[in-house]
Amino acid sequence: MSTAYPIQHHKYDVIVVGAGGAGLRATMGMAAKGLSTACLTKVFPTRSHTVAAQGGISAALGNMGEDDWRYHFYDTIKGSDWLGDQDAIEYMCKEAIPAIVELEHYGVPFSRTEDGRIYQRPFGGMTTRYGEGTAQRTCAAADRTGHAILHALYQQSLRFDARFYIEYFALDLIMDGGECRGVLAWDLASGTLHAFHSHLVVLATGGYGRAYLTCTSAHTCTGDGNGMVLRAGLPLQDMEFVQFHPTGVFGAGCLITEGVRGEGGYLTNAKGERFMERYAPNAKDLASRDVVSRAMTIEVREGRGVGSGADHIHLHLEHLGPEVIHERLPGIAETARIFAGVDVAKEPIPVLPTVHYNMGGIPTNYRGEVVRPTPGNPDTVVPGLMAIGEAACVSVHGANRLGSNSLLDLVVFGRAAAIRAAEVVKPGATHKELPVSAYDAALSNFDQLRHAKGSLPTADIRLNMQRVMQNDAAVFRTGESLRDGCQKMSRVNASFGDVRVADRSLIWNTDLVETLELQNLLGCALSTIYSAEHRPESRGAHAREDFKDRDDENWMKHTLSYVDAKGNVSFDYRPVHLYTLTDEVKAVPPKARTY
Ligand code: FUM
Repeated sequence: MSTAYPIQHHKYDVIVVGAGGAGLRATMGMAAKGLSTACLTKVFPTRSHTVAAQGGISAALGNMGEDDWRYHFYDTIKGSDWLGDQDAIEYMCKEAIPAIVELEHYGVPFSRTEDGRIYQRPFGGMTTRYGEGTAQRTCAAADRTGHAILHALYQQSLRFDARFYIEYFALDLIMDGGECRGVLAWDLASGTLHAFHSHLVVLATGGYGRAYLTCTSAHTCTGDGNGMVLRAGLPLQDMEFVQFHPTGVFGAGCLITEGVRGEGGYLTNAKGERFMERYAPNAKDLASRDVVSRAMTIEVREGRGVGSGADHIHLHLEHLGPEVIHERLPGIAETARIFAGVDVAKEPIPVLPTVHYNMGGIPTNYRGEVVRPTPGNPDTVVPGLMAIGEAACVSVHGANRLGSNSLLDLVVFGRAAAIRAAEVVKPGATHKELPVSAYDAALSNFDQLRHAKGSLPTADIRLNMQRVMQNDAAVFRTGESLRDGCQKMSRVNASFGDVRVADRSLIWNTDLVETLELQNLLGCALSTIYSAEHRPESRGAHAREDFKDRDDENWMKHTLSYVDAKGNVSFDYRPVHLYTLTDEVKAVPPKARTY
């Protein structure tokens, strides 16, 4: 097979796959530490999905009132519904403060207070004094924070000697005896194949929102790293936990930042009632996302939705006045005008919960190293492999992520991966020879899909997958719909055997790109819906109507799911880390969540 596809070989100390916030922070940090570093990305770096993050990045700076990173630690654990690993959460919340200072020094144009400090807005679930007050913890660059951070990080990476391979599609990990030794990639512009040999591969490939019909994710969010990990026989973790953002534009799905509610916006039903007061008397519209999404779904289900179909909810910001809208929320004013035809200064925005974030992903420790259970050790490091950002499950978000903890996760763990890489990789160390057969499985998969002569276009199979996920792995889940959904997803996955790729060329073959992406999405979708069926409890974003309570006795553990080449899903578990790294903060034992 390798003779049919001549391979160009490259050798680096480290390869980063993906150039969003996490990938760029890791690339920059590794290059700065003297490691020869290459970053492969299927889109130009500043087009990565981080560009779409709006409301901000959390850190207990205390610029707008009292705050402490220990409060942030507590909120994140509570938000995670006690599925988050507390050592990793401690690391993230403590490191948040220097991370923001670092970003400021890199040139991120944060919004400012009157006295010139970084502006911070309230976000859902962020409190002071362990739930007593509201924290203003989310640092913002108006409502284009991700855009500002991504551009600053790309500019900074160019200062160091990192090599970017842009519009290269990573096909598969090169594994050798359980160790990751590099990545096989396809250069979309020249049509050539490339083997990148490295001592470490860092997967920073983002989430897989596109497994669903309606999502805030870019079309590029296709779980490519997750797909590669599954094909390498490694597990994904906690895939049943999919976050629905409460305020996607009705019909279009695009994001209207939680920052709107942080600035004083609120939701109403058909009666004009501010219904969140009933569901979360304290936090109201700023309850965590799982709570708000469920409340909105119930309002619509019980006939109190707005519009002619009584099928959505109104988000108001008319009362905020043009100055706040212009200064703090210019991006969503534009989004609402384009996608809902609404002037936000005069009318409410029609919204509905939409898929936004995957809490699950590739299991790692807080240093970014991929882990898997082996007899006697649930946290065995997979040599040569790291994962960071939304592709990873560190797990700092557990069963539900708090808004603005995602941008933070990217920069903190991108940096942590760079620190760890410098500890474990000796710059310029020799690369061991690989057998030619090391590429066989990846090449044969690529070749088979390139020449696929079935009867079903990729787009049809993708739509079928998205419909099943949207209907059966939704905000509320029941055993019956999940079982039905599992069967349907297995059928959709089997239909991939009959896929048709019309374009056989190697240069900018978008038909083949979308087919490879669909293969990655299918692995993620199977893993998600089967894991959801497998977990008989309600926790965070996983709301089972047939098991309404959290079951700490049996299910305070991470689900690991393996998907084999035939689409069979099997399970294992890892314990949640209910301990901290230092004695600066105490682990928080599980308790009931109140709002
Ligand atoms: O609502 C938002 O601006 C999204 C932020 C996030 O997901 O962290």
